[in-house]
Amino acid sequence: MDSNRVIVFDTTLRDGEQTPGVNLNLSEKLEIAKQLELLGVDIIEAGFPAASNGDFQAVQGVASAVKCSVAALCRCVRTDIDRGWEAVKEAKKPRLHLFLATSEIHMKYKLKLSPDAVFEQAVQCVRYAKTLCEDIEFSCEDASRTDPEFLYKVLEGVIDAGATTVNIPDTVGYKIPNEFGNLIAEIIKNVPNISRAVVSVHCHNDLGLAVGNTLAALQNGARQMETTVNGIGERAGNCSVEEVIMALTTRKDILQLNHNIDTSAIFRTSKRISKLTGVPINVCKPIVGDNAFAHESGIHQHGVLTNPLTYEIMTPQSVGKQESTLVLGKLSGRHAFSAHLKNLGYDLSREKIDEAFAQFKELADKKKRITDEDLEAIVLNNTANVPEVYKLENFELRTSANNLSEISISVKCGDQIISTTLSENGPITTTYEALEKITDGKWELASYDIRAIPEGDDALGEVIVRLRKNDKLYTGQSVSHNIIEASILAYLDSVNRALTDTDEKQII
Ligand code: KIV
Ligand code: ZN
Repeated sequence: MDSNRVIVFDTTLRDGEQTPGVNLNLSEKLEIAKQLELLGVDIIEAGFPAASNGDFQAVQGVASAVKCSVAALCRCVRTDIDRGWEAVKEAKKPRLHLFLATSEIHMKYKLKLSPDAVFEQAVQCVRYAKTLCEDIEFSCEDASRTDPEFLYKVLEGVIDAGATTVNIPDTVGYKIPNEFGNLIAEIIKNVPNISRAVVSVHCHNDLGLAVGNTLAALQNGARQMETTVNGIGERAGNCSVEEVIMALTTRKDILQLNHNIDTSAIFRTSKRISKLTGVPINVCKPIVGDNAFAHESGIHQHGVLTNPLTYEIMTPQSVGKQESTLVLGKLSGRHAFSAHLKNLGYDLSREKIDEAFAQFKELADKKKRITDEDLEAIVLNNTANVPEVYKLENFELRTSANNLSEISISVKCGDQIISTTLSENGPITTTYEALEKITDGKWELASYDIRAIPEGDDALGEVIVRLRKNDKLYTGQSVSHNIIEASILAYLDSVNRALTDTDEKQII
């Protein structure tokens, strides 16, 4: 491979899924994997097979669904490695990703192992994994807080044992760019066999420096970066793929590095992953936030109208952000509808198109202008594939400024219709108390977010609800022209996810 080519290792489905409240089902994981492939990532880390049956199935499913490399994460123990290999072996390009902590604090308090024992365990496990799989990545967890001499020793040992990629995680997001860049330069200088492996970095964002640290590492010789879409992940998240890729693209004059990402697929990928994970995108987020290409001040607007380069260092089109266009009307037929979805990049089954088309017709009766954003909202609403234990039948809500709100609501559960009428303060509290009664569960409402998509007076309401049950968060969402309906559907989506969740992670 060209020595200036950066390998993009995407961990949205593994580290990204460790974001609190994110619980993706198999079909959502497959959808994300296919979208990541369209984006052009080189490697998809699809999960941690030993952690749960759900992760095992997801890795297996992704391995057979995509053509790019698929990695399975494993601790440095044989049972994990066997399970990881079982899950990933049918991939066109399988990779086993082993990790073991090497910092003093992790070895002493978490692993309770001496440095010598950690070294031995790392080398033995890489040697064993190599008997199963050609492509082996080894991560020194908490590498950035590891004694450098010990780090060099472990890296040399695992490369001798067969590791083809060595990953240097800034696990706790502690480093600052100059320091992290120097660490990578020192590794390249001090590990004698380093030329036999690709040097990778995996930066967390606790100090908001994940992108800066990743770029500094690339400038100092790293050639793989581990990233997630929208920067989701453990705690403050991981390095955002869209940010670091647009930095590489926009500042190629300085960085002189190449990648395989189709930048025009960035915006759609970001929105789709936000929708599927239920993690909203901050309006000010670089590249993909709603304000990333918006110009508020008159001086800026004037400048951009005269020449966009006055205030834009990249174009919205370069990341696939198009003007919201009027696309279809209420007389449009199913054929035009499905052809338009294909143009937007959605290849849906006949059944899913039927569901989305019915929803489109309903919306077209209520809303004057249907835009690409509306259509995407409808499609994403119809691709979740969560079994509907509870399904909304009908509701009627009466609410006014000074009186209690009253709701009558019917929900279907199997063959049964469950109905209730309830009065409380405020329409959402009333609705959610009624739903809690109907679904017979003690759900703690952890968060409720509502926003308009697209913005404007003819918008749809998108609701994201997080419910907590037994210390686990479940994220449900929905979009509707009627915000109370969206609130009900999002709540039921969350309940349905909780009730059908059989995936208890054992390890992380
Ligand atoms: O942050 C980290 O150290 C990790 C490793 C498993 C690569 O996620
Ligand atoms: Zn991580």
